[in-house]
Amino acid sequence: MIADRSSRTAEGALFIRMLQQQLPVGERILNDPWVAHLALFGQRWGARIPFLARYLLKKYPRMVEYVPTRDRFGDEIVDDKIRTGTRQVVVLGAGLDTISYRVLQRHPECLLYEVDHPATQAVKQRRARSLATRFENGIRYVAADFEIDDFRDKLTESGFQSDQPSVFIWMGVIYYLSDEAVRQTLTRARDLMTADSPLAFDFWPPSLTEAGGDPAFEARRKSYAKVGERLQFGINPNDLAAFVKPLGYDVARIESMNSLCQRYVQRDLQSPEGMSAAAIVAAPCQTANPSG
Ligand SMILES: C[S@@+](CC[C@H](N)C(=O)[O-])C[C@H]1O[C@@H](n2cnc3c(N)ncnc32)[C@H](O)[C@@H]1O
Repeated sequence: MIADRSSRTAEGALFIRMLQQQLPVGERILNDPWVAHLALFGQRWGARIPFLARYLLKKYPRMVEYVPTRDRFGDEIVDDKIRTGTRQVVVLGAGLDTISYRVLQRHPECLLYEVDHPATQAVKQRRARSLATRFENGIRYVAADFEIDDFRDKLTESGFQSDQPSVFIWMGVIYYLSDEAVRQTLTRARDLMTADSPLAFDFWPPSLTEAGGDPAFEARRKSYAKVGERLQFGINPNDLAAFVKPLGYDVARIESMNSLCQRYVQRDLQSPEGMSAAAIVAAPCQTANPSG
C-alpha cells in the first residue's frame, strides 16, 4: 500500500456491500444494516441507482457476489467458534468491513480487535462515528502495516489474551501482500492463538496474481496496481496445507468461492478456478515459531 493513503480496494468492497443491500432481503447473501453508516454520499446514492445492482448481478456476478460470499463465510467461522465459548475476534485488514458490528449485534459479549494499515484505519474510525456510541465498548483498534510492523504486543496491550481461545478473520487482504508478509502475519497470529483457534481468509491462485498470468485477469491486476494495491501473493488450494503446516496450522476447510455462493443463494458466482476461502486452525503442541 502507499504510505499515508487509505485503501481504495476497501472502498470498492464497501460499495459492493452497498449494492448487495439493494437486492430484496430474501435474495441477499448477507444482511448488512451497518454498511450505509460507513458509506460516503456518492457510494450511498450510486448504489441506489435504479436497477444497477440487478444489472451488475446479471452481467458481472463475481463483482457483486464475491465480497458478500466471503463475508458470510467469515461470519460462519466466527459463529461456530463463539458457540464453543470463544469471546475474542481479531479482524486482520478490517478495512471498511462491518464485521465487528455484525458480530456484536449477534454476540454483544464479544470483544473485537480490528488490525489494519494506519491510513485505512484512520478513515474507518472517522466514518464509524455514528456507530461509536453503540459499539465503542466492543471494538479495539490496532494500527499495523503487515509488511513492516509486529502487531503482537499492540494487540496484547489492547487487552487481547493469548492464553484464551480466539478467532481470526483475514478477508480480502492476503493477495495484496508479499510472501514474506503473509508468512510473518500467519506466524505472529499463531503466536497469539491457542490450539484449535481458527483463522479464516480468502485467497487466489498464482495464475491470477502473477504478472503474465491469466490474460482475462490482466485488467484487474493493472487496476489494483494503479491504486497502489498490487496483487502479489497467490497460492493454489492444493498447496495450502503444505504452506501453512510449517507456520503452525492445519487446514480445516477449503471451499471454492463458487461452491460457497451456490450453497448460500443457489447462484453462480462465475469465479475463476482456484478463488477460494479457507479456515486453518492453530495446530496443537507447537512450540511457537520464531518470527521477527
Ligand atoms: C480489499 S480491502 C479488504 C478490507 C476488508 N477486510 C473487507 O473485507 O472489506 C484490503 C484491506 O487490506 C489492508 N491492507 C493492505 N495491505 C496492507 C498492509 N501492508 N498492512 C495492513 N493492512 C493492509 C487495507 O488497509 C484494506 O483494509
